[in-house]
Amino acid sequence: MNTSTFSPSSILVTGGAGFIGSNFVRAWIEERPACRITVLDKLTYAGNLENLADLEGKYSFIKGDICDEETVRRALAEHEVDTVIHFAAESHVDRSILGPMVFTHTNVMGTHVMLEESRKHGVKRFVHVSTDEVYGSLGPEGSFTEQSPIDPTSPYAASKAASDLVVQSYIKTFDFPAMITRCSNNYGPWQFPEKLIPLMLTNAMNDRALPVYGDGMNVRDWIHTRDHSRAVMRVLEAGTPGEVYNVGSSNEWPNIDIVKLILKTLGKPESLITYVKDRPAHDRRYAIDSSKIERELGWKAEIGFDDGIAETIAWYQSKQDWLARVMSGEYMEYYDKQYSER
Ligand code: NAD
Ligand code: DAU
Repeated sequence: MNTSTFSPSSILVTGGAGFIGSNFVRAWIEERPACRITVLDKLTYAGNLENLADLEGKYSFIKGDICDEETVRRALAEHEVDTVIHFAAESHVDRSILGPMVFTHTNVMGTHVMLEESRKHGVKRFVHVSTDEVYGSLGPEGSFTEQSPIDPTSPYAASKAASDLVVQSYIKTFDFPAMITRCSNNYGPWQFPEKLIPLMLTNAMNDRALPVYGDGMNVRDWIHTRDHSRAVMRVLEAGTPGEVYNVGSSNEWPNIDIVKLILKTLGKPESLITYVKDRPAHDRRYAIDSSKIERELGWKAEIGFDDGIAETIAWYQSKQDWLARVMSGEYMEYYDKQYSER
């Protein structure tokens, strides 16, 4: 196991006002209070400073676009950044089917700008937060390892795969000290309600139909976002530059079983389930082999799904105000476009 550790003095977190980014920022401030932390976020529909409200005064914030070279250059210089944790992205598969271009722009061009400016600035570590979706879809057996071929199917997954390749070209060409993490499906607090678990939760709480794609038997491998945050921290501090680390918690569920679990916990009837037209190119199954990060860095998921999902459901039940705000306006337009003709 790698025992050497890197100790950053000033980190820049892109996308820190989104779901996983805000959970990471909270975990980092708790665990490493002495380190300077700056969040760079464009505050798209998915980014929300309310997600960080309890941390006011403990981090610096820059509202800006990762595609804008000048903004990134200034952020790195003014905050004397030595480490970048790159979460910022367009992240929803369904939106990448409705409007793909912004995915390539943000996820590929934005990542390239982050890399180039970080290289020129001389950052010492760069963690690129990628996804298991770059590997495409699995059959009923086996799991993704870091050697699995890159075979994305949606414009979202393709844009993340392309960004991974740009990162790898910087590692090879410039000896740039980047590392890539590829995590499975996250759940937990502050997830935008367009994604499966919070969407089904909010619909069920409001006695609305639960739109299950296809036969509901697509399988996802769920990990609590706090376990993902701990993995990113571990990779940053103990990972080997140039390496890829898969992150998951061996917790596979067919979608329909998750939906039924949510209904049961809320005491709502299964008659709310509505099978709708499938997502195009819908990946059948994801499963992550995390043995490399467990063996080499000593990381392991710690939050059991029973506890994690119960806590998440209770969190959403207690956050009606936040939900009402993020689900207004743009979200309702999106919801209508995505679901009205399914
Ligand atoms: P999210 O959509 O909740 O948040 C994305 C954040 O990025 C938002 O705060 C948004 O404002 C910001 N952003 C978007 N475009 C930007 C731009 N041009 N400049 C600056 N900021 C911008 O996403 P998430 O679910 O928290 O995912 C974060 C990262 O983790 C993404 O890179 C995603 O690919 C990856 N990932 C997500 C999951 C998952 O299950 N959600 C799993 C594995 C990996
Ligand atoms: O695997 C990691 C990826 O997980 C991340 O890279 C992505 O950013 C994240 O969005 C997530 O992608 P998925 O497509 O797996 O997540 P989503 O929550 O959109 O869907 C999960 C499953 O639920 C998928 O099989 C599609 C299905 N689904 C989803 C929605 C929104 C439905 O059946 N109905 C729905 O309304």
